[in-house]
Amino acid sequence: MHTQLPQINAKQLKNKTVLLRLDLNLVCREGQVIDQTRWDVVVPTVRMIMSAQPKKVLILSHFGRPSGNDPTYSTRILLPTIQKAFPDAVHSAQDGFDVDATLVLLENVRFDQREYSNDITLSRGLLKNIDCLVYDAFSVGHRSHASVTGVVAHAPEVQFGDHFIQEKKNIDLGMNGQTPTVAIVGGAKVSTKLSLIESLLDSADKVIVGGGIANTFLAAKGIYMGSSLIESDSITIASAMLKRMGNKIILPIDGVTEHEQQVTFAKDTLKDSDKIVDVGPSSIEIFLQWIQTANTIIWNGPLGFFEKKPFDKGSLIIAQAIAKADAYTIVGGGDSVSLINELSLMNDFSYVSTSGGAFLEYVAHGSLKVLDTWSLHHETH
Ligand code: 3PG
Repeated sequence: MHTQLPQINAKQLKNKTVLLRLDLNLVCREGQVIDQTRWDVVVPTVRMIMSAQPKKVLILSHFGRPSGNDPTYSTRILLPTIQKAFPDAVHSAQDGFDVDATLVLLENVRFDQREYSNDITLSRGLLKNIDCLVYDAFSVGHRSHASVTGVVAHAPEVQFGDHFIQEKKNIDLGMNGQTPTVAIVGGAKVSTKLSLIESLLDSADKVIVGGGIANTFLAAKGIYMGSSLIESDSITIASAMLKRMGNKIILPIDGVTEHEQQVTFAKDTLKDSDKIVDVGPSSIEIFLQWIQTANTIIWNGPLGFFEKKPFDKGSLIIAQAIAKADAYTIVGGGDSVSLINELSLMNDFSYVSTSGGAFLEYVAHGSLKVLDTWSLHHETH
């Protein structure tokens, strides 16, 4: 599938006008960029394109989820970060042809509501006077938006950037890695992880379920979870998964409440007021044993309320164990990545994906909307 993704061909870009779709949804606080990882990973792509001496390069991105023209989400905030690598880059609030510069950062495409509805008039407008689209935004490739699938469908030519190719290649390696494969899925909302778990149950040998999402699985087993976060709409699906693949699903057997009490999960051990916020020590022991058996480990989502100490304990121990494991280790998802960043473990994983929702969609379905769109409109069979 998608074996022949066209990569950047610098020779073809000389004197051409290029639309470069990136994901510059950088982490910002009070108008300042505080994590520029998503920019750092695509700098080589921009360098490669610029070295081809193009006529013009228009960088296109979304930034946050604004509804309308909200200056706190202007890509102007990102310009200083870009100028550190490309001092001549400028910002344009219009179509980019209004400024006399080769490298132009366009305004947040989500200021235009047609973006969200994948309106063809916006895609066509973005592609006006464009010779080639370079797409290097894996992490938004799961959206059917005008600047994602829309431009890919209608561009005269599409080339994929190196970071996109790397994300795809490394996630594929994790999905088809040496067995046994152990997947660890955490996070707060079970509904956002069900299709990931479903797919991992087919491809992995064991799926460890932790974090808030484990509560719903435990509830599906008939365990009373007190005041813990449970999504009752997902109990039936969780129950069906347990019936079908219960032997593969590893659930916590104990937890830590918000009052720092350790509780064992048995039928009626939790009080009404107990709210589980971290995985317990006996569960950690079990998870560590499975991690040690693995040749491939796929991890997405923290195992507890990691933002608040000491409820980050389970996630920290598991992150360190995965980092040390003698296995192909891949991690994806904003929360897990910021956790390992904080622990300075970035270089101890085989691959760290910068994608969140797109990582989940790619692992769950083996594809992304943007890839399916490219196949439909450009792939030659
Ligand atoms: C992300 O942050 O995961 C991507 O930039 C996609 O953003 P979105 O979830 O707002 O579409």
